Amino acid sequence: MNQTLTIARPDDWHLHLRDGAMLRAVLPETARHFARAIIMPNLVPPVVTGAQAAAYRDRILAALPDGMTFEPLMTLYLTEDTDPADVAAAAETGLVKAVKLYPAGATTNSASGVRDFDRVRGVLDKMAEIGLPLCVHGEVTDAEVDIFDREAVFIDRVLDPIRRATPGLRVVMEHITTRDGVAYVKANDTDLGATITTHHLIINRNHILVGGIRPHYYCLPVAKREEHRLALRAAATGGDARFFLGTDSAPHTDANKETACGCAGCFTATNTMSILAQVFEDEGALDRLEGFASGNGAAFYRLPVNAATLTLTRGEAVTYPAKIITGEGEVTVFDPGFPLHWSVSA
Ligand code: NCD
Ligand code: ZN
Repeated sequence: MNQTLTIARPDDWHLHLRDGAMLRAVLPETARHFARAIIMPNLVPPVVTGAQAAAYRDRILAALPDGMTFEPLMTLYLTEDTDPADVAAAAETGLVKAVKLYPAGATTNSASGVRDFDRVRGVLDKMAEIGLPLCVHGEVTDAEVDIFDREAVFIDRVLDPIRRATPGLRVVMEHITTRDGVAYVKANDTDLGATITTHHLIINRNHILVGGIRPHYYCLPVAKREEHRLALRAAATGGDARFFLGTDSAPHTDANKETACGCAGCFTATNTMSILAQVFEDEGALDRLEGFASGNGAAFYRLPVNAATLTLTRGEAVTYPAKIITGEGEVTVFDPGFPLHWSVSA
């Protein structure tokens, strides 16, 4: 007999939708299973002001195919010139749900990010006052810090000082990849949460590098050693409400991935729920999938859990397309490397 699991409709608390033809192609992949998503603002140019976020939100809704429902939860890209009053106004209307901090140069399209943290003090103080979360890309960018150490060093050198200097600031550590990130969340209070991606529950750094280089497993923060992957799996499936799903699904065309200097990002929107059901089943934690994918993030963002549901059914192996076609070129769908037995029906 097939096993079925019905959960509150999930949300994705960290998603890249891009713009234009890419947006039109990837949006249905998310909207098919997810009710809402926190939309990353790292467009070119970035989404910095409330007016830009409103315009981007309109473009997302215009790209949504007829018959699909989806609510984009907008974010602002924090720059050293961000105006605290503009942030407060955009939060007040409900348009903007978080502000995103990229250390300058940390990842794709982060050149406008923050270099001098003293220059964003006014914005952070205002956010603490109004309870608006700060989503943090937690990696230092100093050339002398090894890429595999950049998250742990960021926690000590940047994140902890910011949190101490800004009491009451609510922070989401985005896409944590280390046991250090897990430990830092656990050692703190409920003002600190963390998203965990689907792919970081599956791959470690060997998957990227052993037996040939696999550009479609390259993302930032880069996957770490196996012990870190195991810490992430324990955190995601362990029932602690401070950990929730943020896929970081980040589409790049195959041409931009399979090249001498390939872009960072794994595209996981299409098969994420099927993969997660498999992971939670393997960990004996299927009863916690709903909390991770549908409950914990909503609670952190102080939003209601979705009334709609999603049903997963365990049966014969299900397959997903290896690539999706976009107006900009093909985008490879993340391959978990093992068979998936959970099909998803709305
Ligand atoms: C993201 C992207 O492509 O925009 N890439 C990634 O590897 N995750 C940026 C990011 O979230 O770091
Ligand atoms: Zn991201």
